[in-house]
Amino acid sequence: MAVRNTEQYTAWNGPEGQAWAAGADQDPTEAELIDRLLDAARIGKHDRVLDIGCGAGVSSRAAARRAARGRVLGADLSGPMLERARLDAAGIGNVVFEQADAQVHPFPEGAFDAAISQYGVMFFTDPVAAFTNIGRALRPGGRLAFVVPQPAQECEWYVVPVAALLGIAPRPQAVVAAYPGQAPAMFALSDPVRIRQVLAAFADVSIEALHVAQWFGRTPAEAAEGFLGSGPTRYLLERDAALTREEAHARLSAALAPYAGDGGVVLPGAQWLVTARWTGGAAAR
Ligand SMILES: C[S@@+](CC[C@H](N)C(=O)[O-])C[C@H]1O[C@@H](n2cnc3c(N)ncnc32)[C@H](O)[C@@H]1O
Repeated sequence: MAVRNTEQYTAWNGPEGQAWAAGADQDPTEAELIDRLLDAARIGKHDRVLDIGCGAGVSSRAAARRAARGRVLGADLSGPMLERARLDAAGIGNVVFEQADAQVHPFPEGAFDAAISQYGVMFFTDPVAAFTNIGRALRPGGRLAFVVPQPAQECEWYVVPVAALLGIAPRPQAVVAAYPGQAPAMFALSDPVRIRQVLAAFADVSIEALHVAQWFGRTPAEAAEGFLGSGPTRYLLERDAALTREEAHARLSAALAPYAGDGGVVLPGAQWLVTARWTGGAAAR
């Protein structure tokens, strides 16, 4: 397998991937976001669908249900996530998974009617090359639809836990400014101007703001555990030698407690739902 995104490959085949795979398919709010994504991609009964960064395959299975007479290929860098995806999709005849770096993988040209992604397209080292590669896998006129997070300061699920570990008040701009090191990769496509730039080879780009809430665990303690296993919060714990895991867990649990209810710990979400049409690269010429 050719891999250009080596950092992401390492992360998603290590603790990051294991944490996500273990927590897969528990989020009761995820169905709403996936429905919005599949509606936006206009997935029909006979469609051939490519699911980019499919992770544990929740969206791939949902797409396979809609494309009952079509087929779905879920592509992801992560071995642990794909292992979980294959287990959960056992018995579903029209979905397969492949370990691939979507930026460079030689997908069969023109073979898909639609490409979808839920939070799987923000991590490319060369997003223009990656989206062009994905476009080539689409037939001319094929649809692209994906969901990415809005900027960090709009995402309470980012601001609240990061503030807790930094030991500061959860004021969005201050928390974003105080985050050490590079901004988290998950926000690499959070600026609509940037989204339009990287989709230069596509036509009819549309960007819609969504506010679908996100579920993080049944209890604050479980949600805290999840936050410590992946993403910016795991990074903050790893880099702060003075912060013990117990202390971090306690701080996160306390910060998340106000968001706990009968349905578990749910924080407001802020996403962009992006759609575009592949023109065979003509839009870029
Ligand atoms: C935040 S997770 C989202 C997973 C899944 N779509 C979901 O919503 O649960 C991001 C996923 O993108 C995958 N990914 C990151 N870069 C990728 C690349 N270049 N090619 C394929 N998959 C990639 C990761 O392995 C990971 O499974």
